[in-house]
Amino acid sequence: MAKKILFVASEAAPFVVTGGLGDVIGALPAAIMNKSDMDVRVVLPFYRDISEKHMSEIEYLCYTYVSLGWRNQYCGIFRTKYKNVTFYFIDNEYYFKREGCYGHFDDGERFAYFCKSALEILPVIDFFPDVIHAHDWQSALVPIYLRTLFSDSENYRRIRTAFTIHNIEYQGKFDLSILGDVFALAPYHGGIVEWNGCINLMKGAIEVCDKLLTVSPTYAAEIFSPFYSHGLSPILEKNSGKLGGILNGIDFETYNPKTDMSVFCQFDARSFKEGKLENKLALQRQFGLTENADVPLIAVISRLVNHKGMDILAGAADEIINRGAQLAVLGTGDYIYEDFFYHLAQRHPGMASTNLMFNPDTARKLYAASDMFLMPSKSEPCGLAQMIASRYGSVPIVRETGGLYDSIHDCSFGHGNGFTFSGYTSNDIINSVDRAKALYYNKENWHALVNEVMTTDFSWDKSAGHYINTYKEI
Ligand code: GLC
Repeated sequence: MAKKILFVASEAAPFVVTGGLGDVIGALPAAIMNKSDMDVRVVLPFYRDISEKHMSEIEYLCYTYVSLGWRNQYCGIFRTKYKNVTFYFIDNEYYFKREGCYGHFDDGERFAYFCKSALEILPVIDFFPDVIHAHDWQSALVPIYLRTLFSDSENYRRIRTAFTIHNIEYQGKFDLSILGDVFALAPYHGGIVEWNGCINLMKGAIEVCDKLLTVSPTYAAEIFSPFYSHGLSPILEKNSGKLGGILNGIDFETYNPKTDMSVFCQFDARSFKEGKLENKLALQRQFGLTENADVPLIAVISRLVNHKGMDILAGAADEIINRGAQLAVLGTGDYIYEDFFYHLAQRHPGMASTNLMFNPDTARKLYAASDMFLMPSKSEPCGLAQMIASRYGSVPIVRETGGLYDSIHDCSFGHGNGFTFSGYTSNDIINSVDRAKALYYNKENWHALVNEVMTTDFSWDKSAGHYINTYKEI
């Protein structure tokens, strides 16, 4: 019989996306369904921020009540289909009719309610999956509740679980005193979630899940070291037997420069020479950069925070520009970096442009217009931007970590699809940009590289196969 898989996650494209997790949950279920006879469905919170465009396609199904400890809460169930995948939405206005998905004082309670609801609705929607796949700390309580609150029920006991770490930095930590009150866990269950003197939901999911995954093979190896694990390496050591890494892909339909209506001019691997040039000149105009076909245009599209390597980029940026490249930065983040890049643009009129916002349409324009894409992350579980940049013919220059190491290979050693560096210093960035520029001025070789970059297969197809095998195994 066809296997049934249920994803439980806190965001999914196109409904609500704040980062890479949303892109993955929006694309992977459909990719698995395309490649197998598995029935994959998704449960999400019904946030107020779900885009207007999709709201009208979401229908009310029914409601139930969900109890958690002393609370008993309304739980509306909404439903829609997107790319043939059924998405369910958990509706409770008290918890989800707020601005933004995360960052509220009671996030622990909100996502505890969400996880309990995702399990309670199974008989209501008449879908008992073979595997539940939970993602990051917001849905970590799903495998935990299955093995605690639901362990007496035969229907629930036979469900296997997979848990994916998209970013180990955010673990869902709370004071031990709210174990019973907020999470409805008994003191004798405390050991599952307790770590270093507090409740750590990610730690609990790592302990109880049947299969532990992360989003690239290299990150799966890196998180054993304290440098990357944010305190969880001993727990990962203990559970290493069930850990695996599967590289993410990107949605090749959504990210397609040939059909993308937000870029200035559509192009593909055959027409990129003229197409990218037109995009570059138009973007230089829009971004206040000197219109010049021959100066290399380097893009940075990122959250402006430390672990994305903004500290070493800040040390390299002036030098990169002084050596004759344009730098266009798009993103928001920590004040020190927003301030730094704002003043960088002031210092280098016509050569640097800073746009302190996140706008997906502008991002696509910049991917399409730029010659090179810089991503100097300190750690990167997978990273999707380097894949999107590749699809739009912007040659990635990346630090060799996590998914960046697994997806981009330096072209200086023969066959490659970008430039890479391993050290974590500003000089490493400057040297790599120099190497890229040297090739850039040799048009024939550069075009061969862009062609290679654009035709690298970062679609979900291959990874979907790995997920299918993983589900069959568990
Ligand atoms: C997180 C990680 C990023 C990864 C994404 C999707 O945002 O930081 O590297 O690509 O999750 O898995």
